[in-house]
Amino acid sequence: MLGRSVVLSLLLEASLTNAFPNMAEKLAESHLQERIAPIAPFPEYPGAPYHALYNKFDAKSQLVSTSGEHAFIAPGPGDIRGPCAGLNAAANHGYLPRDGIATAETVNTGLWEAFGLDKTATLFLQTATMFFDGDPLSGRWSIGYHSDKTNSLGVIGDLLGNQTGICAYGHLKTEGDASITRGDWLAPTQNSNCASYPEFAQELLDLAKARTGGNITPQVLAEHQYNRKQHSIATNPYYFSPAYAGIAFTFGAHMFAYELLANHSAENPRGFLTPEVFESFFSYTRDADNKLVFTYGHERIPDNWYRRADDDAWTLSDILISTAQQCVSYPSNCAVGGNTGTVNSFSGVNLGDISGGLINAATDLQDPEKMGCFISQVIQADVPSFLDNVFNGVALTRVLGMIPTVLMPALAPLGNCPGLPKGKSMLDYGKTFPGAKMAMSGNRNPYRK
Ligand code: HEM
Ligand SMILES: *[C@@H]1O[C@H](CO)[C@@H](O)[C@H](O)[C@H]1NC(C)=O
Ligand SMILES: *[C@@H]1O[C@H](CO)[C@@H](O)[C@H](O)[C@H]1NC(C)=O
Repeated sequence: MLGRSVVLSLLLEASLTNAFPNMAEKLAESHLQERIAPIAPFPEYPGAPYHALYNKFDAKSQLVSTSGEHAFIAPGPGDIRGPCAGLNAAANHGYLPRDGIATAETVNTGLWEAFGLDKTATLFLQTATMFFDGDPLSGRWSIGYHSDKTNSLGVIGDLLGNQTGICAYGHLKTEGDASITRGDWLAPTQNSNCASYPEFAQELLDLAKARTGGNITPQVLAEHQYNRKQHSIATNPYYFSPAYAGIAFTFGAHMFAYELLANHSAENPRGFLTPEVFESFFSYTRDADNKLVFTYGHERIPDNWYRRADDDAWTLSDILISTAQQCVSYPSNCAVGGNTGTVNSFSGVNLGDISGGLINAATDLQDPEKMGCFISQVIQADVPSFLDNVFNGVALTRVLGMIPTVLMPALAPLGNCPGLPKGKSMLDYGKTFPGAKMAMSGNRNPYRK
């Protein structure tokens, strides 16, 4: 569990006033661009503008150890791996516990050491994930499917709570459809949301080849996200894109794939991501015909790989800004809603209705400050209703009691949102969508035969 002093010092680090440098200017610019061209190109360097100017490289502090205690060891029986390339690689190299059960402490230190993900981001991600998919009482969550190890409630635990982990039945809480390479949970085929599919990885590599000659860039990833959503709408009758998992989290992961996995050098201080480095981090090898082969859970940090610099860390405000930037370039990526039981039947949910008037159109989400408040609002609406599906009795009372003391402080860095209206939970606004039903076991979806 997170100590109060840890939370407080992390909040100080979050430094709200510096969170959005020159935002008004940037936004004015992006609206201007929008009037000139209907769809503004996604930025070459997304996130806060200062990343575009970063020009230092320090081999010693940026080289990530892959030997000794950080040697690659493939997961053994009982070790859990899931849909997140970064968490899997971290666990395979001992930057997270090798059994795949994350805690606040290990996430905050491990993801900084291995990837340069700033603590404003890890505090938020780890806390939200622990409430959605894990056990807030123990602070533990599984980086893949359900594990008995996250339960703090001992032998009676199964009666009082059964945590999902981040994939499988954790679907729609943190994990969403139209991932970089993972499947859609309710799609007719290729429907593991924990495993990666070569077809989708190959599409990304082909797009990179067409756009840059081979290397994967943030622009390539943003376009891939657009393609993946169009693919889901066209092939998955139960595709659903909720506010957090669908607009923010999945896209956040698309940016992580470049911002946190790119290699760095003196010539390329802002990083470069070759297909080879991507394949190592995504657990791909090549067969005799040079076709991609995925091995579940063998994500590997390449030897001789340099992470982003300490003073150029990826922060929570970078996540918000880049997520908002996607809404400028690909407005349809920012629609909440889903198919209604047949392919190509996408129906949008009224954003004004679910946000109590905070957001009135997808274009409002082009503003990172509104994006931050919207994410905070939907998490506050979703957490109690999701917890109600996972916990019972005294355990439910205790975890609900942790919302003001543990969840709210971790949401504060999302922004200063005075008078934030109460939002609607996905279980409410998703009611009429067959793909938005939450299942805990057995049949994935009541609508599914
Ligand atoms: C507490 C921190 C983190 C949490 C809770 C988390 C969780 C997740 C989840 C739930 C997904 C599936 C998303 C989806 O359905 O599209 C995902 C995907 C992904 N994550 Fe993470 N993640 C974290 C940190 C990281 C880090 C540090 C990296 C990179 C170093 C990373 C890279 C990725 C990538 C590349 C994917 C896409 C995988 C694919 O679609 O094939 N994540 N993560
Ligand atoms: C807990 O949930 C998982 C799915 O997340 C399921 O496989 C398992 O059977 C459940 N355990 C109990 C005791 O209900
Ligand atoms: C990362 O870049 C450096 C400098 O160009 C290079 O020497 C190293 O081999 C690269 N690492 C990987 C894993 O490609």
